[in-house]
Amino acid sequence: MKHFLKLLDYSGKEIIEMLNLADQLKYEQKHGIEHKLLAGKTLGMIFQKASTRTRVSFEVGMYQLGGYPLFLSANDMQIGRGEPVEDTARVLSRFIDGIMIRTFEQAEVEALAEHGTIPIINGLTDFCHPCQVMADLMTIREYKGTLEGLKMCFVGDGNNMANSLIVGGLKTGMSVTIACPEGYEPPKEILEFAKAYGDKFGLYHSPKEAVQNADVVYTDVWASMGQEQEAKDRAKAFKGFCVDSELMSYTNKDCMVLHCLPAHRGEEITAEVLEAHANEIFDEAENRLHAQKAVLVTMMKD
Ligand code: CP
Ligand code: NVA
Repeated sequence: MKHFLKLLDYSGKEIIEMLNLADQLKYEQKHGIEHKLLAGKTLGMIFQKASTRTRVSFEVGMYQLGGYPLFLSANDMQIGRGEPVEDTARVLSRFIDGIMIRTFEQAEVEALAEHGTIPIINGLTDFCHPCQVMADLMTIREYKGTLEGLKMCFVGDGNNMANSLIVGGLKTGMSVTIACPEGYEPPKEILEFAKAYGDKFGLYHSPKEAVQNADVVYTDVWASMGQEQEAKDRAKAFKGFCVDSELMSYTNKDCMVLHCLPAHRGEEITAEVLEAHANEIFDEAENRLHAQKAVLVTMMKD
């Protein structure tokens, strides 16, 4: 049984293979070549948090693959009233062929995989966002032709995005730096993982130092879903961590800017930088569709 729970579970080679499939599926979609690789399969999509890109790209992706997407709002399910995830996993395994889940705790996603008998795909947890990073890596390859040897710098909170970018970037041959305020570093588990990559990884508290010679600058909101109450304190802590044109002047020429979106202009990124890199950022959003179709096929095709 294959699951897509976190990038830590996949080798660089496996990630690249999925990216190659994503490129092929994008080509087929753009050229009207039918690719109903999941004909007759049903994907349940459980959302405990809001979503625009993840929901629409999974739903459309499943349709394009000849399958059927079933949107399941956690608020309307018994899981939202306390039915154990173990039972939900066993019941849904009798009806459908795969589950995509967006929730808070990574443990919940892992529990679904442990107790169900169908593939589980992580559509974002507080720990990681692997589907987003597949689209990010796909976009970087489209613009730069390769991942190997590039330097990617994440500026912001050591959150789910930072975690998946560190793992996905390092595994596919990139150097990765993180610039975050003190107290907002990625968790120990991720820093331990990164340690093995020696000087290909760097943790900084100064954005200017971290972005030196970067080929890709990445940022994300300062307050993630579920942290709305802390937004004001976070805004104070993250002062000086805005991706603006001055910060971009320290990067390599032709440095890309990526953002998983939604963006808060004037906080983690200026409107000027976002608009200057809108092509990359909205290609990145589109690539959620193509990259996830590759993940769906890899996990769910017989
Ligand atoms: N980037 C991303 O996951 O967007 P949504 O929250 O809209 O799904
Ligand atoms: N870190 C953000 C990512 C949104 C796609 C969040 O978890 O809200």
